[in-house]
Amino acid sequence: MASECVPLIKTGGLADVAGALPAALAPHGVEMRTLLPGYPPVMQAITRNHQVAEWDDLFGGFARVFRGKLGEQVVYALDAPHLYDRDGGPYIDAQGRDWPDNPERFAALSSAAAMIAADGIEGWAPQVLHCHDWQAGFAPLYLRELGAGDRVASLMTIHNIAFQGITRASMISTLGLPRSGFNEKGYEFWNNISALKAGLVYADKLSTVSPTYASELMTEEFGNGLDGLLRERQEDLVGILNGIDEALWTPPYKTPVGKAKHRAALREELGLPDWPGPVCVLISRLTSQKGLDILLQALPALLDRGGQLALLGTGERELERAFMAYAEAHPGVAVTIGYDEALARRLVAGGDAILVPSRFEPCGLTQLYGLRYGTLPLVALTGGLADTVINASPAGLAAGAATGLQFHPVTAQALAQALMKLVKLYEDRATWTKMMKNAMAAPVSWEHSAADYATLYREMVKAE
Ligand code: ADP
Ligand code: GLC
Repeated sequence: MASECVPLIKTGGLADVAGALPAALAPHGVEMRTLLPGYPPVMQAITRNHQVAEWDDLFGGFARVFRGKLGEQVVYALDAPHLYDRDGGPYIDAQGRDWPDNPERFAALSSAAAMIAADGIEGWAPQVLHCHDWQAGFAPLYLRELGAGDRVASLMTIHNIAFQGITRASMISTLGLPRSGFNEKGYEFWNNISALKAGLVYADKLSTVSPTYASELMTEEFGNGLDGLLRERQEDLVGILNGIDEALWTPPYKTPVGKAKHRAALREELGLPDWPGPVCVLISRLTSQKGLDILLQALPALLDRGGQLALLGTGERELERAFMAYAEAHPGVAVTIGYDEALARRLVAGGDAILVPSRFEPCGLTQLYGLRYGTLPLVALTGGLADTVINASPAGLAAGAATGLQFHPVTAQALAQALMKLVKLYEDRATWTKMMKNAMAAPVSWEHSAADYATLYREMVKAE
C-alpha cells in the first residue's frame, strides 16, 4: 500500500518505486496488488464498475474500494471522497499547507489495507502487507488489532525518515489506536503519536532503500530520533536499493556520441550559451534535504570554468526565488520552476552531468537515470548515492571503473572542489568517454533488487 504511484500520482521517488515494483516482482512469482488513496487522478483512471469492498464509516464517511488496472498491475483505489476528493496535492493544499486531516486520511488508507489483508478481497488474500513510509505506518498495528498479525506478515519500508506523520496524543481514539501502545515501546514519540514509529515497532520486518542509508538510520545524525529503535531492530532491518523502470528511462542513443545532438537541443531550448564546459542538470524537490543552498554558493566554481547549469524543480518558495534570481543574473544558468516529466527526460538526455548534492539521500533516483544515460552523476557521499556511484578517485580511475564523482562533507567548499574536478575531467575527453561507457553499463534496473524483495517476502510468509 502506498500514498503515491506512477503514473497516477507522484511527488517523489516513492511513486516510482510503488509503480515499478509489481512488474519487477512478477517474474519472481510474486503477485503484488497496490492499494492507493482515491485522489482525483486515481479515480479518473479507474472505471467505477468494479466495486470490491465498502465501509459505511471510514474515518468520518462512506468509503468504497474499486479495482482497476495499470497495465498488468491490479490497483485498488480507496474511494473516500471526504478524505481524498479535493484539489491540491496529495499532502498539501494549493497554498502549500499540510491538509489538517492528514492523520485521518492516511490512517484510513492504513486501516483499509489492514482490513483487506485480514479479510481478503475478491477471494484473494495477501501473505505479506508491504507498507511504504509514514502514510502506511499504522497498518501493521491495525492488522494486529484485527487479530490477523499472526497470519499476514508486514514489511515497513522507510523511504525518508524525515517525514514521520506526527500527530498530537489527543488523536489516539480518533485514529482508532489502542491506548496500550501509547508509550515509549509503542507508537508514542515525545508525547505525540508517530505513524512511522508505529510501523517500525509493529511490522515484522523493516527495510529501507539502500544499504548505506540502512546503516545511517541507526546513527543519531540520520535517525531523526528513531535511531535507538532501529538499532534494537537491526536484525530485522535491510537496505534494498531502488532500481529504475527501464521501460520509462531508456536513453534515445546507444553510445556516448549520441548525446551531442540532445545537448545541443537542450541548450537551444533553454537558451544556454555554447560554452566549452559541461552542461550540468539537476531535477529535484527544492527542499533543504537536497543541498541546493550549498549549490548556490558553489556555482561560481562551475560557471567561471565554462560550465552551465539547468535546474528543474519545485518546492520551498525561498529556494525557488533564489534560483530564479540567480538565473536572471547568470547567463550560464537556466531554471525551470515546476513539475515536468518530459523536460526531466530532455535534461537527463542532454546534460553531461547530473548533480545530487543532498545532505541525506535514502536512495535517490536521478543519479540512476544519469548513469543509464551516460550523464555522469556528481553526488554527495551519503545514503544511496554512496552505493550507486563509483567515484573518479585515483583508484577508481586507475581501475577503469569510475562512473561519477562523490564529494564529502556536504559543504559549499567541498562541492565547489568537486565541480572544478568535474570540469577538468570533462576536458579529458578519453577519460570522460570511458566514464560514460561505464555509467551506461552500470546495473540500475530492478533485476537484483526485485529478487531481494521476493526472497525477503518469502522468508516473511507465516504458516497458515
Ligand atoms: P525524492 O523521492 O526524495 O524526491 P528521488 O531522487 O528518489 O528523490 O526521486 C525524485 C523523482 O521525482 C525522480 O523521478 C525525479 O525525476 C522526479 N522529480 C523531482 N522533481 C521533479 C520535477 N520538478 N519535475 C519532474 N520530475 C521531478
Ligand atoms: C524518498 C527518498 C529518495 C528515494 C525515494 C524512493 O523520497 O528521499 O532518496 O529514492 O524515497 O525510495
